[in-house]
Parts: sequence; structure tokens; C-alpha cells
Amino acid sequence: MAEPDRLPAAELPPGTVRRVGDWAVGNRGSNDGEDRYFAVSRRCRHQLADLAEGSIDAEGCLVCPWHQSRYDVRTGEMVEGPRGFLGYHGPTPGYTQLVAAYSRILRLRVRRATRAGDDVVLE
Ligand code: FES
Repeated sequence: MAEPDRLPAAELPPGTVRRVGDWAVGNRGSNDGEDRYFAVSRRCRHQLADLAEGSIDAEGCLVCPWHQSRYDVRTGEMVEGPRGFLGYHGPTPGYTQLVAAYSRILRLRVRRATRAGDDVVLE
């Protein structure tokens, strides 16, 4: 049986996102200081940016590094569409909603990420 995907928990403090194989693994923390780990597939549903290079916003959503689409990491759903496309960054009325609509159907894949000893393990 293959080893589960894992990384040291020390490399994943609250507010960080790391790459583990095909997964973007992060810790969205909480106000009470508790770790809240997540793992989602790495490719943005918009134009395939690497979500392992994204960031976590104040609401605990994963934000794409290219056009700032926002994802609910518990479901993989895009909750806010992109602010631009290709090299353009700015308002895209209609287009933003269209991408968000199809991304509600084509969600990111989600895995459970839990603490096991000194590591965060993907189940
Ligand atoms: S590639 Fe992610 S929002 Fe455009």
C-alpha cells in the first residue's frame, strides 16, 4: 500500500498553503488558535493557476494567485469568480459570474487533512 501524502505540521502554520503532490494543503486556522487543515486539488478551475501558491483570506477561503477567485476549501466550490483573465486584472462583469457558475458544478476535489503526530496527513 502506498504511503499517505503528508508534510510536517511545522511547515503549515495558520495562514499558509503548501504543495503536496497534486494537492494544495493549507491551514486556515481559527480565532481560538486552533489549526484547521484542508487539502484541495491544485489547479484553479478558471485558467489552471497553481492554488498551492494562493493565499487564505479573512473568511478562510483559498484565493487564487492569478485572478483572485475564492474557494470554499470545505466543499471545493468557487464562491467568487475571477477578477480578470490571462494577463488582464480588473472588472469583468458577466464573465466573473459565468466562471463562478460553471465552477459551482466543476468543484475542486477535496481530501481530508488531519494532524497525526508531527505531520499533517491527507486521507
Ligand atoms: S486562474 Fe485562478 S482565477 Fe484565474
